[in-house]
Amino acid sequence: MKTFQQSDRLKGLPEQFFASLVKKVAKEASEGHDLINFGQGNPDKPTPEHIVKALQEASNNPQFHGYPPFQGHGFLKEAAASFYKQEYGVTIDPTKEVAILFGGKAGLVEIPQCLLNKGDGVLIPDPGYPDYLSGVALAGATLTKMPLTEQNDFLPDYSSLSEEDKQRAKLMFLNYPNNPTGAVASKEFFEDTVSFADKNDICVVHDFAYGAIGFDGKKPRSFLQTEGAKDVGIEIYTFSKTFNMAGWRIAFAVGNESVIKAIELLQDHLYVSIFSPIQKAAEVALLHSHKSVQDLLSLYERRREVWVGGLQNIGWDVKAPAGSFFAWLRVPKGYTSTEFSDLLLKKAHVVVAPGIGFGEHGEGYVRTGLLTEETRIREAIKRIKGLGIF
Ligand SMILES: Cc1ncc(COP(=O)(O)O)c(C=O)c1O
Repeated sequence: MKTFQQSDRLKGLPEQFFASLVKKVAKEASEGHDLINFGQGNPDKPTPEHIVKALQEASNNPQFHGYPPFQGHGFLKEAAASFYKQEYGVTIDPTKEVAILFGGKAGLVEIPQCLLNKGDGVLIPDPGYPDYLSGVALAGATLTKMPLTEQNDFLPDYSSLSEEDKQRAKLMFLNYPNNPTGAVASKEFFEDTVSFADKNDICVVHDFAYGAIGFDGKKPRSFLQTEGAKDVGIEIYTFSKTFNMAGWRIAFAVGNESVIKAIELLQDHLYVSIFSPIQKAAEVALLHSHKSVQDLLSLYERRREVWVGGLQNIGWDVKAPAGSFFAWLRVPKGYTSTEFSDLLLKKAHVVVAPGIGFGEHGEGYVRTGLLTEETRIREAIKRIKGLGIF
């Protein structure tokens, strides 16, 4: 059999750091250890029943069995606009300012292909969600990392960027509530972002994957609530986290008309939109999920208290996240993030993600997902206490 060479474009894709973590975890599990996994970002609860039911009903409708409209159903775009009005007071034109996506990840990888030429610059948070790197690599664009440090509340400091980086940059990715740090963005930060982007002709892509998850009664802000935001960018809203629909592969982009048009043009060449019953269920999710979203938020908030409070009680100096379902924990002195993750895996059978996997500035931390039942969280705390290092 011939072995065909991969294209240079594929060879240029970044290495998947977390593949090696998955391997280590699989090895421990194969040895029969009872692992408690905080390492991944996969929501552990099922999709709410009313959404599943909407899919079941819609799939019985023969009208929905053919090709969907190329750019998605109008009813879903209208629901996205109503959702933004209801949740954030933001007015969206469903005919020009919404693009339906095959999950947030697909949108994040598509956007650099839509807007960048070889050598154009992209500003990316470090630590950050690894898929930003993939789209940038496929487009042959040039990366500039923006450090997110605890001293700066895990927000980028635009004043530290060089003139060259600012001039080269055409695109910037942001993500609040933040994966992996759990930080949220302030109104002022988004205002600074709009003026920075406007001055430097940069398109802002705000990844709002954890938009529904803000703690202590504080609802995370949409970037589009900022005056002038639509002039300089878009927001990506996935159904994966708010509605526990990670497997359904659906999201949407909202905001700047020219960016939405570019996304739809690329997608016209790649797909014929998403299976209509999924779009119908997504409409129901957006319009009728107030209670299930509130319940989910309370669940994560309770787990946050148990996990972070419990770790503080055993003497680990950690801070509670303001949003997202991740807690970003500083590793004790004397360990790298990988060494400490390995120790927790081998000696406590607790899986966490080493911060270095999210970028150079993630070193010194581990990311833990609040995606495990309370009883297991308490068990993990007991095991970590048993290590006797705090
Ligand atoms: C920050 C962030 N953005 C985007 C995504 C992608 O979400 P999806 O592709 O499921 O919509 C995730 C998923 O974990 C994420 O954490």
